[in-house]
Parts: sequence; structure tokens; C-alpha cells
Amino acid sequence: MHITINCAKSLDSIIEGNYSNKKDWKRVYELRAKSDAVMVGINTILKDNPRLTTHDTGKEPIKIVIDSRCRIPKDARIFETPAIIAVSENAPKESIAEIQKKAKVIVCGRDKVDLCALIKQLSETGINKLMVEGGGTLISSILDLNLADELIVAIAPQITSKGIRFIEKELDAPINLKLKDVQKPDDVVVLKYEILK
Ligand SMILES: NC(=O)c1ccc[n+]([C@@H]2O[C@H](COP(=O)([O-])OP(=O)(O)OC[C@H]3O[C@@H](n4cnc5c(N)ncnc54)[C@H](OP(=O)(O)O)[C@@H]3O)[C@@H](O)[C@H]2O)c1
Repeated sequence: MHITINCAKSLDSIIEGNYSNKKDWKRVYELRAKSDAVMVGINTILKDNPRLTTHDTGKEPIKIVIDSRCRIPKDARIFETPAIIAVSENAPKESIAEIQKKAKVIVCGRDKVDLCALIKQLSETGINKLMVEGGGTLISSILDLNLADELIVAIAPQITSKGIRFIEKELDAPINLKLKDVQKPDDVVVLKYEILK
């Protein structure tokens, strides 16, 4: 499976808030349309309640939420298109039963969702291109596990100072990158990197 992390941040790496401009959002919608699935952590759903759609740019990818305790609200907007909720074995059975009415539920990992096992399962179901949109905790785990192939960061001309960061937990080792492309949609700079493994 090919995994791309995409995220927009302030110059000081805060990701909480909107850091893409109109042109960059178009790039994000197109990237979603080229992906088989788009993944976010549960905090992103609880904070932003996003739809993660392509805005009619193309085919809708499957939406995947990493949610160990199955806390996702039944009326989350993500359920407007097909979704998979990945939960752990410790998630309450009643919550799983409720969410199964809305989406496919994958149970994977004891306390936390086991991302390596999940990625393996997803690729067996034909998901070959995965876009990870955040937040910072999920991005950190994906990087730490060496699962991602590509990183795209859009950097807005702002120093925000407070909020969730692009990297929310200490990584075991530095991640080495190779710069592949630089775009400048108006006042945002978009850097595309290959992740060296
Ligand atoms: N600017 C951007 O491009 C962008 C994109 C997306 C989100 N965001 C922002 O990011 C913020 C949320 O980020 P966040 O760091 O608080 O949370 P997050 O990454 O959205 O979600 C993290 C949660 O996922 C669950 N999880 C389960 N298994 C996991 C695993 N193996 N590894 C990592 N997480 C796992 C954990 O909750 P459980 O233990 O309950 O499962 C964890 O607390 C929001 O403010 C949102 O606006 C920004």
C-alpha cells in the first residue's frame, strides 16, 4: 500500500485551524479523489466533524477513523459517504453494535488500534492508496511505525503558537526525507517529500 500523509500547518507547525487557502484546498480535494481511502484519528472527528469529501472533484474515497474506544458520534458527518471505523478489542460492544449500523467496523489491537495490522487488513481488501490527514497524534504514530511513503505539508504564513502540533508525540528515531517538489499556491508553500526508509 502507498501511504501519503497530507497536512496543512502554520510556520511553527500548529495544525489546529485552517492553514490551506482556496487553491490548496483544491489540491487536497484532488488528492482525496486519487486515494482509495482517507484516514483520520478520532480527535479530528470530535473536534472538527469533517466530511473529508472530494467536493465533486472525483470518486469519493472510503473514510477511515482510528477510534480505539469507538467514541465516534452516530451523527458524525463522515458517515455521509462509506466509512470504516477501526476500534480496539476494548471498545464497548454496545458502541460497536450502534456504529455497525452506519459503517464497517474493524476490531484490531487490544487497547489501541494496531495500525500495522490494520494497514495489512486494509490492503487485503483492495485499498492500495491511503491518504492520512491527521491529526498530529495519528501522523506521529504512522511516521514512528515507518508506514508512510510520502509527506506533503502546506505551510501557511502564520505563527500560531498555541494548538495541536504536526508531531504530537516523541518519535523513536529521526525521519529522513527527500524533497521532491515545491509549489507556491499564492501565500502557501507546499512541500512534497519522499520518506526515506
Ligand atoms: N491541518 C491539518 O491538515 C489537519 C488535519 C487533520 C486534523 N487536524 C487537527 O488535528 C487535531 C486533532 O489531532 P490530535 O493529535 O488531537 O488527534 P488525532 O490524531 O486526530 O486522533 C488521535 C487519537 O486517535 C486514537 N488512536 C487509536 N489508536 C491510535 C494509534 N495507534 N496511534 C495514534 N492514535 C490512535 C487515539 O484516541 P483513542 O485512544 O480514543 O482511540 C488518539 O488520541 C484537530 O485540532 C484537527 O483540527 C489538522
